[in-house]
Amino acid sequence: MTTTGAPGVPAASARPTLAEISAEVDELPAPPVSLAAVIAACDDPDVTVGQLAQRILQDQNLTASILKLANSAFYGLSRRITTVTEAIGLLGFSTIKSLAISSHTYRLLNRPLDGYAMAQGEIWRHSAAVAMTARMLAVEVRLAPVEEAFIAGLLHDVGKVVLSSHLERAFTSVVGRSQERHMPFVDAEREVLGFDHAELGAMVTQRWNFPPELVEAIRFHHTPAEAVLRPRLCHVVHLADAVCVMLGVGLGVDGLAYEVDGHALSSLGFDRGRLERLLDQVEPIVSAADFSLA
Ligand SMILES: [Fe+2]
Ligand SMILES: [Fe+2]
Repeated sequence: MTTTGAPGVPAASARPTLAEISAEVDELPAPPVSLAAVIAACDDPDVTVGQLAQRILQDQNLTASILKLANSAFYGLSRRITTVTEAIGLLGFSTIKSLAISSHTYRLLNRPLDGYAMAQGEIWRHSAAVAMTARMLAVEVRLAPVEEAFIAGLLHDVGKVVLSSHLERAFTSVVGRSQERHMPFVDAEREVLGFDHAELGAMVTQRWNFPPELVEAIRFHHTPAEAVLRPRLCHVVHLADAVCVMLGVGLGVDGLAYEVDGHALSSLGFDRGRLERLLDQVEPIVSAADFSLA
């Protein structure tokens, strides 16, 4: 690799340009039209259970995914759900919306990310664990709607899908820089590549027309003090991410020198003791959960 300036930093020409990154973001499969219709129906207070079920049933893949997810570790239901109508009745509209988004996210995230040293399934497992933890935290700190915390948690690292191949080429530089300077991995990413995965995740979800508060929570999940639209949503996602990294769920190299933000902790009313209790509470749930949808 050609280097210039500080050792280990790729030449500017080896870095991806904004145009290249932008084109790659555009190439990611956008949520299908049927999913957009289901999301709109979930948000419409005039839509009935029967009408929502009809919309879901029009897409066989979505129907199958929703049933699999409803019966997965996400909800830990005591009995098996066999129909979409039953799923809507038991889980409610906003949870069905999360499941519909999860089905698309699973297709995107169920792949190896070599640039982050993550084998197939790991980024999905990490994202699912962060989503569950974020929802649990949102309930605890009374942040509504809790499903928004779930969705932001699920998508917080989606930018890694775009950045992974670039990172692979600069892997040694980024890891070396993070380790030598004890610098958070995300900062080393930005220094070496010119972009970080949080920024790219925001770009992806913006293209999908997600609400600005959700895009913001993804953009600042490593720098939560910068969030202004709905800071506590971002703080919840950050803390959920930190907890899952501490528990070693889908760690990869992004866990290197991970810094928990003191401002986010105090804004949510967490001190060291409460954080330890949260870790004890989350550990048995996320460690044992099987999020695989295969
Ligand atoms: Fe991240
Ligand atoms: Fe993460």
